Formats: sequence, structure tokens, C-alpha cells
Amino acid sequence: MGEDNKQNRLDTISPTALAGLSSYAICGIPLAKEFLDLICKDGIANPPISIFNPSGDMPAEDLIRREVHSRAMDAILRSLLDEGRADTILEFASGMSPRGLGLVNDHEVTYIETDISNDFAQKRSLCGRVAEGQGMELKGRHLFYPVDAITMDGMDEVRKQLEPGKPIIITHAGLITYHPPEKRDQISYNFREIMRSAPGSLWVTPDPGFLNTAYLNATTRLSGTYAQHLSKVTADFKQKLGVDVDRDFYADEGQIEEHYNRLGFKIQKFGQPEFGFAIQSAPLLQLDDPAREEFLILVKNSIKAWVFQLADNYQPVQIAKPLM
Ligand SMILES: C[S@@+](CC[C@H](N)C(=O)[O-])C[C@H]1O[C@@H](n2cnc3c(N)ncnc32)[C@H](O)[C@@H]1O
Repeated sequence: MGEDNKQNRLDTISPTALAGLSSYAICGIPLAKEFLDLICKDGIANPPISIFNPSGDMPAEDLIRREVHSRAMDAILRSLLDEGRADTILEFASGMSPRGLGLVNDHEVTYIETDISNDFAQKRSLCGRVAEGQGMELKGRHLFYPVDAITMDGMDEVRKQLEPGKPIIITHAGLITYHPPEKRDQISYNFREIMRSAPGSLWVTPDPGFLNTAYLNATTRLSGTYAQHLSKVTADFKQKLGVDVDRDFYADEGQIEEHYNRLGFKIQKFGQPEFGFAIQSAPLLQLDDPAREEFLILVKNSIKAWVFQLADNYQPVQIAKPLM
């Protein structure tokens, strides 16, 4: 696949996917910079892009949160693969995340990326070009399918790639957070049905703790800039997405556990990042001590990837019969 082949070049990429990828690149998330460089080379984006702009619409506190979420996800997925819990990962809403390519590069895994976005059709060629540019010899299989996580449109094609009854790992980062409660629950039911047909399957995501009220309150107390940023983010959530953070999110981890128990899941374990690694975005933090120290401890204790499995007492949901 030649880099100058116009057919393979990207035409567009959505601003949110670009902002997400840019934040990963700044934080040193593996391969994010390589993805971003190609996108810039195609002329789709030119730094400085939104997060670099002086209005600071993504402060360092948020970069740190994204970095730690991302590293927690990587760490837990890698450890589950190394433990032999599954050899297939099915990612929903993968956007421009470089995680799939990183994992097929060094694991004998079948990594299935899915998303609904228009950008997504171009993701396969982007991954191919990065792999070629890096001289990667992929150990795993990397597959791409359009799937809507709410309606499950497109899932039939994915099922053809799954070995019946064999456990898989379902994952996503930044999907249920952006949907109002009934859609989130629908997505959870969909995952539960996939997991039910493949006992031993796991669901890994950082989303339930994304805007945990305890974390929000503590961070806004520590940082005025972040407080302003979060109040804009939560207002946008309400206005654009119909998600009311106070009503639809959780006060603490107990509430998260309770909610997912009601949906038929139990927490298998938490994936917390190893704080042995340096948080690369930490030097950007402009808080003075002790607020800085307190913020990093808060991040360390609150940010995690959740690993769910089906609850033992699982009862299928009763689907109401249509009225005749
Ligand atoms: C905030 S981005 C996260 C992307 C990526 N996981 C990351 O970490 O950068 C949200 C993604 O969710 C996708 N999405 C939104 N609604 C969806 C749905 N119903 N089914 C599947 N993907 C969806 C969007 O297309 C977008 O790529």
C-alpha cells in the first residue's frame, strides 16, 4: 500500500476523533503520534489543533485523566490476554484510537474494531499505512466492521468472525458516557447478550467512572481552571447529548457497582494503571503544591478501567410483548 496512493489517503476526520487522537499523541500514548502525523500529512489537520489553542479548551488535568484512562485500559487488556482469558477483543466505538494496532503488533490476538462514524471506513487504511511506515510484522489479526452499539446493526458480520461459545473481551472507551441512561442500558443489555452466548467473556471499560461525582467535586475543589472546563463540558453534555451529569452519573463506586449489578453484571476486577510509569502529561499541570500532589493522588485512586463479568444469578430481561 503506497503512501502516495490517493485512494488510501484520508478525506475527513471528525473534530472529536481528532481532539481525542491529539490528546493521546501529546500524552505519548503509543502510536498516536504516528496516526496524527499521517492525518496532518494528508492535509486533514494541521497543528495547532483545538487542544493546543490558547483558550485551553483541554487543560492539563483533562489530558492527565485521558492518559491514565488509556494506560489503564492498555494495561488491563494486555494482562487479560497474557493470562489467556481470551484471544479475541471486540472494541466498540473505537474511533481513531491506536490501541488495536498496538495490540495486534505484539499479541496473537484477533482484534475487531467497530464504530459507526464516517471516519471509520478510513481507519483501516490509516492502520495499514502506520504499520507499513513502522515496518511492523503484525502478530495478530486486525479486522474492521461498522457496528452500531445501540441497535447492533452490523453485528451479524462480526459474529461470523467469532468462534461460537469461545470467550471474548468486549471493550470501549468513550461510548456509554455520551448516551442518556436508556441508551446506555440498551448497550449494556447488548453486551450482556453477547457475553451470555460465550461464557467466560469479559467487558472492559473506563466509562462508568468517567464523570464520577466524587472525582468531579474533588477536582473542581483543587483546580479553578478545571472547574471552569468541567462546567462547560457538563453543560455541553446536557445541551447536545441530553445527558444530565448530576442525574445520570454516579456519586461513588458503590453506585456504579449497584447499577451494573441490576443490569446483570458483577465487577471482576479493576484495571488500575501501574503508577510506576511516568504520567507524561503530568509536567503540564500548573497547580502548586499541595494541590498538585493531591490531584495526582486523586487520579491514581479514582481512574481505572472496570472489568465486568456476568453475574451468577443472571436472569434474562423480560422483553414486553407488543400489544395486539
Ligand atoms: C469520544 S469518541 C471515542 C473514540 C475512541 N474510543 C477513543 O478512545 O478515542 C466516541 C466514538 O463513539 C462512536 N459512537 C457514537 N455512538 C455510537 C454507537 N451508537 N455505536 C458505535 N459507536 C458509536 C463515535 O463514532 C466515536 O468514534
